Amino acid sequence: MPLTIGVPREVFTGEKRVATVPEVVEKLIKLGFKVAVESGAGVLANFDDDAYRASGAEIADTAANLWSMSDIVFKVRIPTDEEVGLLREGCTLIGFIWPAQNPELMQQLAARKVTVLAIDALPRTLSRAQKMDALTSQAGVAGYRAVIEAANAFGRFFNGQITAAGKVPPAKVFIAGAGVAGLAAIGTAASLGAVVRANDTRAEVADQVVSLGGEFVKVDYEEEGSGGGGYAKVMSEGFQQAQRDMYAKQAKEVDIIVTTALIPGKPAPKLITAEMVKSMKPGSVIVDMAAEQGGNCELTEPGQAVVKHGVTIIGYTDLVSRLARQSSTLYSSNLFRLTEELCKTKDGIINVNMEDDAIRGLTVIKDGSITWPPPALKPAATPPAAAKPAAAPAAAKKGHGHGGSSEPMPGNKLAIMFGVSAALFWFIGANAPTAFLAHFTVFVLACFVGYMVVWNVKPALHPPLMSVTNAISSIITIGALVQIAPPIALDPSRPDEWIRWLAVGGIVLATINMFGGFAVTQRMLAMFRK
Ligand code: NAI
Repeated sequence: MPLTIGVPREVFTGEKRVATVPEVVEKLIKLGFKVAVESGAGVLANFDDDAYRASGAEIADTAANLWSMSDIVFKVRIPTDEEVGLLREGCTLIGFIWPAQNPELMQQLAARKVTVLAIDALPRTLSRAQKMDALTSQAGVAGYRAVIEAANAFGRFFNGQITAAGKVPPAKVFIAGAGVAGLAAIGTAASLGAVVRANDTRAEVADQVVSLGGEFVKVDYEEEGSGGGGYAKVMSEGFQQAQRDMYAKQAKEVDIIVTTALIPGKPAPKLITAEMVKSMKPGSVIVDMAAEQGGNCELTEPGQAVVKHGVTIIGYTDLVSRLARQSSTLYSSNLFRLTEELCKTKDGIINVNMEDDAIRGLTVIKDGSITWPPPALKPAATPPAAAKPAAAPAAAKKGHGHGGSSEPMPGNKLAIMFGVSAALFWFIGANAPTAFLAHFTVFVLACFVGYMVVWNVKPALHPPLMSVTNAISSIITIGALVQIAPPIALDPSRPDEWIRWLAVGGIVLATINMFGGFAVTQRMLAMFRK
């Protein structure tokens, strides 16, 4: 019996988003589900009831009807008390929940004996989870909208122009914090033609800033700002002072500041002081995206746009909702990807598989039991253990194969392997011709070095490694070219035609490797280009 996915109208004041758009309704129906949408749910995001009907959804005229027919509820904002009351026992709720900030809500939901998947609790560092990452999709929209709001309040062009009436310099934009929202803001401001600068405490984002057309401005103080999981930490007093000095200098120079700095679980760091605002040119604009967490600017008023010292300070907390059609489309696509993971059988039935790291991470309540916080994630992609070819088959039988990376090889097996290798080397040493031994020694050393290089690299880094192997391939090609020359030219005594054919084979394989390496490198670089 296929389950019904219900999409209620969001009741939070000012919320214009809807959890599922008509385009995604069609896809959910293809996955085997029935879809019901509350009348008017998508109106504020420009999706009317007819559009939902046309895509195959049933329209429920009241919220009570919608909630009573839903086995799975797709929401954006956390449910209100009334909505919690409408949840049917045994059903599944998917949406933003923020379990750490809402312990009471968690208790209420658990009491309803439901399963709750908090999209905000998705383990974002899992690359497989990126397609479901609603925090990222929504922050990207917010970063874009922040720049549009700034452009709206700013009295000049963003791009530089030379006109008959005179030369217009480009606007200078400074972005504080280059997380998802900050990077989206950098890309948007740069595409409008502004000169963009950005700063972040995490030095690793510098390249991303540059790739989006910005300039990374460093704080003149050595301190690493990563607090783990791709997030920031609170910086030392010395760093903060040096950062304030740098920000004060930028404030005097730039026309627009967009602040996005946030440290999870902490109030937003105060980066722009009243003094800095005072020092800005009249007509300048500050968009404080962290307004909801207390603001990065001392003069921000959350939810408002105010003018202070001639500077417009925008503290809107609904930037995502101001682009409701776009953000709803991206959000519902995230939920669809999650549904695909939950319903691999494509029969309209979900399986909340707690063995799956991504699903485990976002399942905060399972059948009425609170399962949040999840256990720490296993470290991703550990390098495979010393996968000694000789021992692999035997090891695999006992479940110690390549995957059992951290398990050391049992002592007796290691001894046997060493014994066999030593005997083999002794046999070769005693019987092989001297010329062969020299080559053999080089070959064994090369295997050892190659093994150490490749097997100690994390599997996740193998594609970049492929480009490096281009260099090795070119050495192989040169060696093969030497061998392929007519024997007479190099060494008349060398008789073997088959060596030449081996060289031909070597060149063919090395060429495939080289071109493959370049192709993969290009594809990887393309992912970072616009
Ligand atoms: P994020 O956590 O990915 O990015 C925050 C960035 O700020 C990180 O790169 C971090 O390293 C940086 N940062 C932290 N402390 C800093 C400091 N002292 N100096 C410089 N950089 C610092 O967060 P995300 O997803 O990019 O969101 C950014 C902000 O935008 C958050 O405050 C979020 O709540 C807010 N937001 C606001 C919306 C609105 O409607 N106003 C909508 C969506 C997001």
